[in-house]
Amino acid sequence: MEIDRRAFIASLGGTAAVSMMDSEAKADALEHWMEESLDEQAAAAQGGTPEKFPTVAELDAQIETRNYRRGTGNVFVNTRGNVKKLEAMPKNPTLQDFFRLRFAPANHVLQSATRALKTGMSEEIILACLLHDCAQALMKADHGWWGAQLFEPYIPEKSAFGIRYHQALRFYADPDAGYEYPDLYYRIFGQDYTPPPHIEATYKMLRNHKWYMEPRMVTVNDLYAFDPNAKVSIEPFTDIIGRHFKSPKEGLGNDNSPSAHMWRTLGNPDAPL
Ligand SMILES: [Fe+2]
Ligand SMILES: [Fe+2]
Repeated sequence: MEIDRRAFIASLGGTAAVSMMDSEAKADALEHWMEESLDEQAAAAQGGTPEKFPTVAELDAQIETRNYRRGTGNVFVNTRGNVKKLEAMPKNPTLQDFFRLRFAPANHVLQSATRALKTGMSEEIILACLLHDCAQALMKADHGWWGAQLFEPYIPEKSAFGIRYHQALRFYADPDAGYEYPDLYYRIFGQDYTPPPHIEATYKMLRNHKWYMEPRMVTVNDLYAFDPNAKVSIEPFTDIIGRHFKSPKEGLGNDNSPSAHMWRTLGNPDAPL
């Protein structure tokens, strides 16, 4: 597959930003970029014919070809080789420390939050966009629920609601709100996939909920389209984090909150028990 090197580097915030990324982070970003570009290239190569997506049975047949499960959190597996030694977390780690040392490169969530900021969303929604997929470092399966639980002790209720339920709403188009079913989901779940009962029940509940638009707006901003001119950095969100993220003075993981153990696991995923 052809890589537009210039556009790829620009999507990461330019050569200066790229020079600060380690090789693993670069590989992750490249994989993500290729995933996104695939759609357009596949359509172009086939003269506009839509890409052929796998079936659920075809994806199922791949399970025993891997030595990891697809739901595994990113800090626990390197699908391209051995895992790398992680830099230790500081003594009293903050959210920004986790972004730098465990969630990096975090392009996708930074891009989503940047879009929410530009389109004038509420600060609760911007924060939800910034955090919505971070728990995928810990667990990809049911990541909306894992993510909400991870952040719930520290953020506004509406932001946690947005994080928890964006996962379910991703499966249901809402053209009025500007959200279409993503091609990415045909590719990763299978073209004939139907969401499990807990997702369907959650969708029904949300349709009538007064906060429906909180998770819906997370899905609207949950785009995999990179703006080549966008700067990806956590800097523009410093004030919003300061206002809405109740950072414990002992540091995340040391504060005995209901999710402290999840932060400790992220901090030290090499612990044997
Ligand atoms: Fe997500
Ligand atoms: Fe996302």
